[in-house]
Amino acid sequence: MIIKPRVRGFICLTAHPEGCEKNVTNQIDFTKSKGEIADGPKNVLVIGASTGFGLASRIVSAFGSDSSTIGVFFEKPPMEGKPATPGWYNTVAFEKEAHAKGLYAKSINGDAFSNEIKQKTIDLIKSDLKKIDLVIYSLASPRKVHPDTQQVYNSVIKPIGKTFENKTVDFHSGTVSNVVIEPCTEEEVNNTIEVMGGDDWERWIDVLKKEDVLSPECLTVAYSYVGPEVTTPIYRNGSIGRAKDHLEQSAFKISEKLKDIDGKAYVSVNKALVTQASSAIPVIPLYISLLYKAMKEEGVHEGCIEQIYRLFETKLFSGEIPTDEKGRIRIDDWEMRPDIQEKVSQLWDKVTTENIGEIADLEGYRNDFFKLFGFGYDSIDYDVEVNELQEIPG
Ligand code: NAI
Ligand code: NA
Repeated sequence: MIIKPRVRGFICLTAHPEGCEKNVTNQIDFTKSKGEIADGPKNVLVIGASTGFGLASRIVSAFGSDSSTIGVFFEKPPMEGKPATPGWYNTVAFEKEAHAKGLYAKSINGDAFSNEIKQKTIDLIKSDLKKIDLVIYSLASPRKVHPDTQQVYNSVIKPIGKTFENKTVDFHSGTVSNVVIEPCTEEEVNNTIEVMGGDDWERWIDVLKKEDVLSPECLTVAYSYVGPEVTTPIYRNGSIGRAKDHLEQSAFKISEKLKDIDGKAYVSVNKALVTQASSAIPVIPLYISLLYKAMKEEGVHEGCIEQIYRLFETKLFSGEIPTDEKGRIRIDDWEMRPDIQEKVSQLWDKVTTENIGEIADLEGYRNDFFKLFGFGYDSIDYDVEVNELQEIPG
């Protein structure tokens, strides 16, 4: 079929297999250009492995450290005349490239919150890899069906206690406007913690350990975010921030549980980037457009793959793992550099619909957004038929 972008607000309903393949091969090429990570992982489980930071983690593991990888994710397969979601095509491309290099790579598509998918993963580890030495937890989900009670929880992105009002941008039209978001209820906070907190990460590690599929000295890492002052009321001090607090606390709990096998759990605070998860959050796209401008000007801009390569090379596998006062790895260090933040904050005060084209990197934002779905590559002819019915090799 001929596949063109079909955008509805902050999501795109279509994805292009060749463009997704390009996203993956670009990330593989970057990883190869950086070279082998000394003392990197060997058998890696990535939960949330099909897009964003999780996909980058899988690519760096495989192509920067020759790792065998198992990827877990929740993606829609293609149907006749209806393309799959991007993570599906990303995985098709990833497995193809990994297998061509002689690397083990298998994937499980289903709900990571469920007991069934956890069991399936354990069965696969037992039959193939035996033990895992790195577990990356990179889920971003708006909802969770509780594995024991089947109760459904929805996460919200709202401030706590006080109405939030600030600038935001419609990144398609470039219109800057004010957004007003009413505070959430206590129940909404708890639901958001259920979905995006550390409960499921802990469940994964509990069951992996119980089934004896974790290597001695294994590591597990989950991803968090802090961000600037302008987004603090809606992000870090809001409902999602409470979930991130919980996730960060879970690292200590999990480390305690892994003590007898000398394992450790870490949270890495990553940089703000355009992903399907972040484009859905109000205010963040405007912040990212300004941040990209400032970071590109200073020559310190990174995408998911650059972030994760640097995380592996300079933090996770470089001997002593450096952390902040709260025990977190900070790979958002360049985003949070005082000169970068000062610049963003000055631009933030000035930005309007009229000047956003000049003072923000809105074009960079848009390009990244369309690339998430495989669109916007000059080397691809989007008027040509492409096979939408691609299967993950397995
Ligand atoms: P993403 O939307 O690109 O990736 C989410 C992944 O989770 C996909 O592989 C998806 O298939 C999988 N997934 C979602 N629900 C699932 C389910 N029920 N079962 C199995 N798999 C499921 O998101 P992104 O941005 O890579 O986020 C990953 C983590 O990184 C999140 O914890 C996020 O908060 C964090 N983070 C994101 C930042 C950003 O700016 N994008 C910045 C710092 C941290
Ligand atoms: Na991810």
